[in-house]
Amino acid sequence: TSARLTLDPAFRIAPVEPRLFGSFVEHMGRCVYTGVFEPGHPLADADGFRTDVLELTRELGVTLVRYPGGNFVSNYRWEDGVGPVEDRPVRLDLAWRSLEGNAFGLNEFMAWAAKAGVEPMMALNLGTRGVAEALELVEYTNYPGGTRLSELRRAHGVDKPHGVRLWCLGNELDGPWQMGHKTAREYGRLAAETARALKRFDPDLSLVACGSSNGGMPTFGAWEAEVLEATYEMVDHISLHAYYDPSDGDVDSFLASAADMDHMIRSIAATADHVGAKLRSRRRIKLSFDEWNVWYQSRFPGESALDWAEHPRLIEDDYDVTDAVVVGSLLITLLRNADRVGIACQAQLANVIAPIRTEPGGPAWRQSVFHPFALTARHARGQVLRVEPECPAITTARYGEAPAVWATATFDDATGETALFVVNRDRRGPCELEVALPAGLVPVEHLELADPDLSAVNSVAAPDRVVPRPGTGLRLDGRRAALTLPPVSWSIVRFA
Ligand code: AHR
Repeated sequence: TSARLTLDPAFRIAPVEPRLFGSFVEHMGRCVYTGVFEPGHPLADADGFRTDVLELTRELGVTLVRYPGGNFVSNYRWEDGVGPVEDRPVRLDLAWRSLEGNAFGLNEFMAWAAKAGVEPMMALNLGTRGVAEALELVEYTNYPGGTRLSELRRAHGVDKPHGVRLWCLGNELDGPWQMGHKTAREYGRLAAETARALKRFDPDLSLVACGSSNGGMPTFGAWEAEVLEATYEMVDHISLHAYYDPSDGDVDSFLASAADMDHMIRSIAATADHVGAKLRSRRRIKLSFDEWNVWYQSRFPGESALDWAEHPRLIEDDYDVTDAVVVGSLLITLLRNADRVGIACQAQLANVIAPIRTEPGGPAWRQSVFHPFALTARHARGQVLRVEPECPAITTARYGEAPAVWATATFDDATGETALFVVNRDRRGPCELEVALPAGLVPVEHLELADPDLSAVNSVAAPDRVVPRPGTGLRLDGRRAALTLPPVSWSIVRFA
């Protein structure tokens, strides 16, 4: 097949928001323990942080990390994770039917985030707790000193306030699996009163209200409308979560997952604007896509099968070439919606459905999905350009017709560099892509992630089996570049 697109720096969507390259560290499985934190590991630093994982986090280009959950947060007492480690209790983590030893908590996370160079995004427990506990956590975290909780933080060895700006008002409270699950009315009231109190403490805090847990929830859309009617003037973002896998072996639909993500973004943006119109508000709520990824949910036995282990191996999916192409296309979608999506977090960072894998006491390695994330985070700079490929469609059982070629581009005013990110979703064959360029641009780099074996994965034994490789056959003819997109591939072409 063939396709064409035009890169024109005049057609701008919005600046590239660095917060789109967020990740997520939940107390779940081995994300924290033996993932980012493993005292006694040969590569652990004085704080017990794995320096190999810290280096990979920086290489991944992560800008922001959401913490500590996820479902975990909805039954979490933040007080358990601060103060002398030997005094911290072992608790039941009801979300993942695991034991939580609390050796890692708020202050450890902040120290880790500073070393990783990422902005912290904290989630509050609005499942089993409420306004008072949220206020106490924020006082402990952000108030300079002279009050009970700020002095407690100082007594714990943290003199300066952490200055966390971003706070999630709970997690997935529409889900019956959530501890303290609520109706939209119940949650909307609690989120509104928590937000009102937090903004009284500091009007500059940026607050995220919980949207639906996924696009298939029966109350998708209605939940957001009711929650935003209660919170509109006090919150800055509404959250979206989505996980994709080739359920029932439907790989064509899986490859078109970005069509679903795009639809979710448009639906929730429209819902938020509808509420704003009804309320005659001038505010514009942004979207926080704070959990997204490929997750083979069918392989997860369910929480009831879990049996109170400490940091068990949970949902450690091995990602293959197709998964990396889907992750690349989801990142393209987030950039294409950069005028509306202000925050995005790939879930999660280490071991648990993660780009970074580790063995306890052993090595760390990059999964296939690491690479499109790292290259997009590194090269998406400046302004997102509107790019609309003319291309054939693939027919999918779940989403109908979806364009075979999915793309975005960025243009950096400062350097003149333009980066094109493009996916060929078609399994049947390659696609010849013609790119119309602005005057003076020439290609400087062309990398592609593709493989004749779409099920190839990286592992301890072969950590670099799936990596991006230089693309071949890129031709330049005046202001037209032409390249071949292999079947099921993700590519980046940089022009300068
Ligand atoms: O990331 C895994 C889980 O998925 C999170 O804990 C929850 O918020 C979501 O359902």
